[in-house]
Amino acid sequence: MLTSHDIRQRFLDFFAKRGHAILPSASLVPENDPSVLFNTAGMQPLVPYLMGQKHPLGTRLASAQKCVRTGDIEEVGNHKNLTFFEMLGNWSLGDYFKEDAIKWSYEFLTSKEEGLGFDPARLYITVFEGDEDAPRDLEAVEIWKKYIPENRIYFLPKKNNWWSPGDNGPCGPDTEMFYDVTPNGLGDLTHDEYVAADDDGRVVEIWNDVFMEYEKRDGAVVGKLAQKNVDTGSGLERMTMVVQGKSNVYETDLFSSIMEVIGKISDERYDERSARIIADHIKSSAMLIADGVRPSNKDQGYILRRLIRRALVKIRPLVGSFAHPLVQRVVGISNNNVTTEFDYAGSQSVFAEILSEIIQVYKDTEYLKGKEALIFQVIFDEETKFRKGLDNGFKEIEKGNIDPFDLFTTYGFPIELTEEIALTKNITIDRKKFDEQMAEHQAKSRAGAEQKFKGGLANTNDTTVKLHTAHHLLLAALQEVLGKEVKQKGSNITEERLRIDFNFDRKVLPEELAKIEALVNGWIAEGLSVTRREMPKAEAEALGAEMEFGAKYPDIVSVYEISPSTSSGQTHSVSLEFCGGPHVANTSEIGHFKIQKEEASSAGIRRIKATIE
Ligand code: SER
Repeated sequence: MLTSHDIRQRFLDFFAKRGHAILPSASLVPENDPSVLFNTAGMQPLVPYLMGQKHPLGTRLASAQKCVRTGDIEEVGNHKNLTFFEMLGNWSLGDYFKEDAIKWSYEFLTSKEEGLGFDPARLYITVFEGDEDAPRDLEAVEIWKKYIPENRIYFLPKKNNWWSPGDNGPCGPDTEMFYDVTPNGLGDLTHDEYVAADDDGRVVEIWNDVFMEYEKRDGAVVGKLAQKNVDTGSGLERMTMVVQGKSNVYETDLFSSIMEVIGKISDERYDERSARIIADHIKSSAMLIADGVRPSNKDQGYILRRLIRRALVKIRPLVGSFAHPLVQRVVGISNNNVTTEFDYAGSQSVFAEILSEIIQVYKDTEYLKGKEALIFQVIFDEETKFRKGLDNGFKEIEKGNIDPFDLFTTYGFPIELTEEIALTKNITIDRKKFDEQMAEHQAKSRAGAEQKFKGGLANTNDTTVKLHTAHHLLLAALQEVLGKEVKQKGSNITEERLRIDFNFDRKVLPEELAKIEALVNGWIAEGLSVTRREMPKAEAEALGAEMEFGAKYPDIVSVYEISPSTSSGQTHSVSLEFCGGPHVANTSEIGHFKIQKEEASSAGIRRIKATIE
């Protein structure tokens, strides 16, 4: 039987043999893309190239890419939803299109020598049925008919057979491959029978070929891209489940030994769903830590914290009663009394054995290599923090204060734990009220997160990122030459140029423009570092960080600083601005800066357009 490692390797070898350069997995945390917290698909790191930028390794690429999706975290524990998974994918950047993409998908799935040896009689295909944005994909059907009888090819709407990474970027119709996992085989299915088989998991999606020739802006398809791309994606975990004939991903070799360890350290209250959640969450946590994420209260760090804490709450009932030493380690209580002190010295994570096994499962990849000790430490530290919060919470409870929302927001008490404690004290928890308070709380933090990226770039190719940093330098130079009262009143960046609007009540003289330009180029030549910090809004204001007039900012803001420069004889920071980024790391990356035009924008507002070469 093929192992998950064999499947990954076969996939990469298959496409390498067909002229594809093999990319190592990019970090789970996207570089230069503030619009997503994690890579959620294999294509995410490739967006600029799908949009037309030249890739240094050519026009045919393939990879096994680490991904994290937390959108359906509540579903984790069923047979196929995971927060961490690997996506196998091959790409054509304006090279081959539907004919080869479909042929190779079919060959890889069915070839015994080079691929997975699937039975073609168990394959079902879906294609895009067409709408106002793109025609019915008859071309894909014609190609599929060479391999699969037409009565096993089904047309489905955009909801099913169109793929885009978000509201902006490349997208297109797709064709999806499904495999019949029933013992006796389903045979021919009508359209409705097929849809029902998909709904109840008798057929499983194993691969998606996206024909990315369209572009989306602000959620609407606006037309065709300059090049026709192929973006395929197949989840390794799910593919392994099908290859190994298992009914859920936890029985595959990517999870089975981890599940065994959880079973071993559990007592008679072992519960399969909780065990799955622990295995999934701790694996994701290890991967995130290896890629540089640390537990915190925001962004990626918040997700990591949530994963670890959810797993801690789940492991508690599995590994024994409140008196169990492992449990004490986590919640620090015994016999329902508060233990105020628990000596952590020499202790280790309650997940230690599970983590060792996770590291073992990925020993043939680079994912966790060299990060093992760090992973143990970060998880252990987070456990300790959580336990301390719980200790304090328990003190409150002992005083008779059981407010689940307060316990959650102040001490990190998960609702399930509060409910359990309340039960021992004969107190009823108003779950509905708690859920409402949480919904409100989450809506507030979401609004904060969205605001934080206001001012961030929608398009993040190299040139726009450079122009963005040049924009900050230009504002600083305008203030130095024309006066501190100059403020940004508007801005816009495209791939060709930057534009800034600012208050100033006369034309800027040519000699002033020359001076501004020279200042910016001087700072570029100095190679100043550009750093991002997060701080409370009040602190950023007190530091005098530039903010755009009229824009709304959240309580915690992201601030970019370009510093230090010694150009004026003393060390000072060139620029400090409220900004969502992204930016270059060092000004030397920008190139030569040139002002192209200075003109009136409206009464009292001037406009400058500038480029970089
Ligand atoms: N991007 C597509 C997906 O995630 C194909 O790779 O399904």
